[in-house]
Amino acid sequence: MTITVCSMRNRKIKGDTDFMIILAPSILAADFKRLGQQIRDVDQAGAQYIHIDVMDGNFVPCISFGMPVISSIRSRTEKVFDVHMMVADPDRYVDVMRECGADIITVHAEACRHLDHTLRKIRGSGAKVGIALNPGTAVRVVEHVLELADMVLVMTVNPGFGGQEMIPYTLEKVRTIRRMCDDRKIPMDIQVDGGVDLNNIHRFLEAGANVIVTGTAVFRGDAAANTRAFLKKFEEFERQ
Ligand code: DX5
Ligand code: ZN
Repeated sequence: MTITVCSMRNRKIKGDTDFMIILAPSILAADFKRLGQQIRDVDQAGAQYIHIDVMDGNFVPCISFGMPVISSIRSRTEKVFDVHMMVADPDRYVDVMRECGADIITVHAEACRHLDHTLRKIRGSGAKVGIALNPGTAVRVVEHVLELADMVLVMTVNPGFGGQEMIPYTLEKVRTIRRMCDDRKIPMDIQVDGGVDLNNIHRFLEAGANVIVTGTAVFRGDAAANTRAFLKKFEEFERQ
């Protein structure tokens, strides 16, 4: 399988194929009493991104955390801050999220009044640009704006809560988007988020995802050991 990705960090070259599989532990599932230490644990165990779920109680039912928390944890790690905006009209928060330390800002197509404008605004802020799609949203929604993005986030559960089971049909969406990008020779990270664990990770990788978000499966138990277990799975997949 060919995975072409945009370059951020830790690029691996496999044959003549750019190949980089990234682990993005979602701190939504962390123990907030010791958030700084948990971030250090996954950082030192080798996770490349920290996935940060911002929820507003409007686009999704829950309220998670926002700017003060993100700026506060910024000093805990130099890893990529991958900010997943589950908020209505995220355009309003692009600049402030960047100021708080976001390296990637991902917005939901369903939450943007003017998706094209918001994606350009993220690019203008200096952050990498991500577009997220809920499970029920058709992949054609991203068709015309692919060139404006570095990453497509295919939600593999309905957004709003950790610890759900992945929805199998979303894998077909990953395959379709990977094919669409390959056909158009667009280097693209494809992120999956929701219900990923050590038992089903290969299904997401085989479908063409290369940025893997996982909350519960990392932070339930020993976060460092779980991180290493995922990275080992990635290596095994790369060796296939
Ligand atoms: C869901 C969030 C996810 C969530 C994943 O709305 O976007 O990032 O934390 O959690 P798990 O891996 O537990 O499904
Ligand atoms: Zn997320």
